[in-house]
Amino acid sequence: MSTAVVAYSGGLDTSCIVAWLKEDWYGFDEVLAVLVDVGQEFDLEESIARGTAAGADEVLLVDRKDAFAGEQCRRAILTNALYEGKYPLVSALSRPVLAQAVGEIALERGAEAVVHGCTGKGNDQLRFELAFKAQYPGVRVIAPLRDRVWTRDEEIEYAQAKGIPVTQTAGSPYSIDENLFGRAIEAGVLEDPWNAPPDEPYALTSDPGSAGEPLEVVVGFEQGAPVSLDGEDLPLAELIARLNRLAGAYGIGRIDMIENRAVGIKSREVYEAPGAIVLIAAHSALEDVVLTKDEARIKRPLEQRWTELVYEGLWFSPAREAIDAFVDSTQRLVTGEVRLELRPGAAVVTGRRSPSMLYAAELASYGTGETFPHEAAEGFIRISALETELHAARGRAKIQA
Ligand code: ARG
Repeated sequence: MSTAVVAYSGGLDTSCIVAWLKEDWYGFDEVLAVLVDVGQEFDLEESIARGTAAGADEVLLVDRKDAFAGEQCRRAILTNALYEGKYPLVSALSRPVLAQAVGEIALERGAEAVVHGCTGKGNDQLRFELAFKAQYPGVRVIAPLRDRVWTRDEEIEYAQAKGIPVTQTAGSPYSIDENLFGRAIEAGVLEDPWNAPPDEPYALTSDPGSAGEPLEVVVGFEQGAPVSLDGEDLPLAELIARLNRLAGAYGIGRIDMIENRAVGIKSREVYEAPGAIVLIAAHSALEDVVLTKDEARIKRPLEQRWTELVYEGLWFSPAREAIDAFVDSTQRLVTGEVRLELRPGAAVVTGRRSPSMLYAAELASYGTGETFPHEAAEGFIRISALETELHAARGRAKIQA
């Protein structure tokens, strides 16, 4: 008997895939649909009903919300991960988690193939397939939406013919991916980069114009990881979810960008990631007072490399792990609190404190009583200036020109 295990979302694409896998062209005897909870909104009963109607032999729900928060989201925060300076990797972080769950089940059941619903144009195919192969070397990977390009209408027609229930959202012009760390919105009118994003596809954030009075929040960190909100200890998944609601009400974390995909396409992307944006801003503000100058200078370019690796599907890679080892070492003292003010469209850091601060008022103060060795500054500058002075004194700048 041949078995295929599908990374199933409960939506139209992957439901059609389930049905198609049983048809002659693929011809699997058994299809298992694996739905992984990474904090997205989904209707479990509806997803199971749709998967079953599509012909899945089993629809399995795997809860990885806390694992996703504790590993991928936590590491993204420690690394201040913003792809191209803006995008907090929402989808890129979840793919390895989904693929790992699917790969585990495929191994357990001795399945012949693992299946995802990505097209040939995006980054997600890379992330799924690299993670599948890391989990289950040698596995056959099937990407039905790459084997044949379906239009939305063809999918709806096929689903209706197969008796798969189609909801209104199936007709939405947007392609949406969602998890605890945020939401990615693509396609529809957004494909013209001149069009302003309409209000309608946003779900985690309100229009900043409708926000109320500013709100102060305090985030507590331990070894770089967020552990409390306004003094209340919270598991990370809960903390992110609460901040999504609080900051989302101010329209914080809306990102409208043109992004360079791994496959060389520039695409228009709209994200909403209120919690992620607040936490990365707060974490990086705490690092500012704790890390040494060189730790910070070495870490910034590594953060960017880490972000690119994860964006391009290399979550399971020795390079990512090696950067994490460096990051972990820098985070040992990143414990403390950051105060932010949530304002319409922006979270502004207004305070930071840590028992391990290197910030020293007695050195930095403009007031009296500071202990900075002023007399040493003169000698320090004389020596620092030696080369610059010699270069000028010998008229070298003129000769070069
Ligand atoms: N461009 C983003 C990324 O590569 C978002 C992808 C979201 N996927 C989707 N099917 N809408 O991470």
